[in-house]
Amino acid sequence: MATDWDNTKTLAQLVIEEPGAMPVLEQLGLDYCCRGGRTIAEACAERGLEPGSVRAMIDGALTDGGAQGGNAWTTLGMSELADHIEQTHHARARELFQRLSQVVPRVVAAHSAEHPELVEVAQVLSGLSDEMHDHMVREERVLFPWLRRLFSHGSLHKGPPWSVRRPIDCMVHDHDSVSAGLSSLKRLLSGFVAPPDACGSYVSMVDMVRDLTLDTHLHIHKENNVLFPAGIRAEAGAEMAARERCGSAVPSGSGACELGTHTA
Ligand SMILES: [Fe+2]
Ligand SMILES: [Fe+2]
Repeated sequence: MATDWDNTKTLAQLVIEEPGAMPVLEQLGLDYCCRGGRTIAEACAERGLEPGSVRAMIDGALTDGGAQGGNAWTTLGMSELADHIEQTHHARARELFQRLSQVVPRVVAAHSAEHPELVEVAQVLSGLSDEMHDHMVREERVLFPWLRRLFSHGSLHKGPPWSVRRPIDCMVHDHDSVSAGLSSLKRLLSGFVAPPDACGSYVSMVDMVRDLTLDTHLHIHKENNVLFPAGIRAEAGAEMAARERCGSAVPSGSGACELGTHTA
């Protein structure tokens, strides 16, 4: 049974405490990554679902098996979680986009006469690929090293004179855009069900896009709901320590002392 079930709990908190709930939330279209701040009651009401029924489904899933992709990551420290995200989700997205770049043109060429929506599928995937590759590079080169410094040394950033909340806000905005693109693909691909006349390549393409969607939802959950909030807390702690060292009441977020002109 899901632990401490409470309809006022957020979807993000539910998944943090019970990763095995994720497949059920995916099945029901309850967004726990980009819109994980909603309570269970709010999210169910939006979808016309009865929270008690959702709980029963989650309990059944927990009885049947483990979490999607395993939940060993929940025991990692935050720097290790950043490493894990790069090594698993970033690598997986790059691999899937590379494979899709080969198969999608073939599927469009062979099937777009009967399935004209495939042209839009190819366009959305191409844009999503560019967007996610750019996003992951910015995380790997800028945000994640910044977060690791905060987690390991509590050291405030000596570069741009602003808070880590600024790049985090940019990444969260990107996540919303990526999630919208994935929702479009799910709609265009009939909920990731290949049509009866699909060839092997077509079926493989649909499976890869479904895998990309599920993996990206988990990827975003780990960042939006676990890693990024931890980074904001670590920066607040580092700011407090810096203010104490300065011996003066420096307003939170102003970043005097070590930060120069540090603003959110
Ligand atoms: Fe990422
Ligand atoms: Fe991200």
